[in-house]
Amino acid sequence: MMMKLNFPKLININNIPDERGHIYFLDDREYNFEFKRIYYLTSKDVNIVRGDHAHLNLKQIFICIHGSCEIYFDNSIKKETFLLSSKAEGLFVPPKVWREVRKMTNDCVLLVLASSYYDENDYFRSYQDYVNFMKV
Ligand code: TYD
Repeated sequence: MMMKLNFPKLININNIPDERGHIYFLDDREYNFEFKRIYYLTSKDVNIVRGDHAHLNLKQIFICIHGSCEIYFDNSIKKETFLLSSKAEGLFVPPKVWREVRKMTNDCVLLVLASSYYDENDYFRSYQDYVNFMKV
């Protein structure tokens, strides 16, 4: 049986501007998973590459809430790099997609909403293992 190949999608983050500024909000009823874990990444150098893994089951939303970064995705067939530079835009990342976070500016804060608690068994740490799994 061929596995269905998903790919990340850009999403708009609800926000309300007023004379004081903006408020941005996400409610998990609008997405097809519950947010069980929140973490955020920063970087010491624009040349550092983070990520370099795929997840078996984890669903995520990535939002660059400050600065900018690029995220490269590969679902074993399709490859694409997205630039995240707006607080009003995020990426829904389905399971089984290889990702590399690149070019994080030194003011970058990349917020991640995740569907499960941290579980090392959910990771593909080797690209070769990931590609072999996706061929089955
Ligand atoms: P990891 O997901 O491997 O991020 P990256 O690929 O960008 O390095 O996480 C880095 C380390 O942090 C790893 O040792 C696992 C640990 N970690 C947790 O303990 N809990 C978490 O929720 C996350 C995201 C990472």
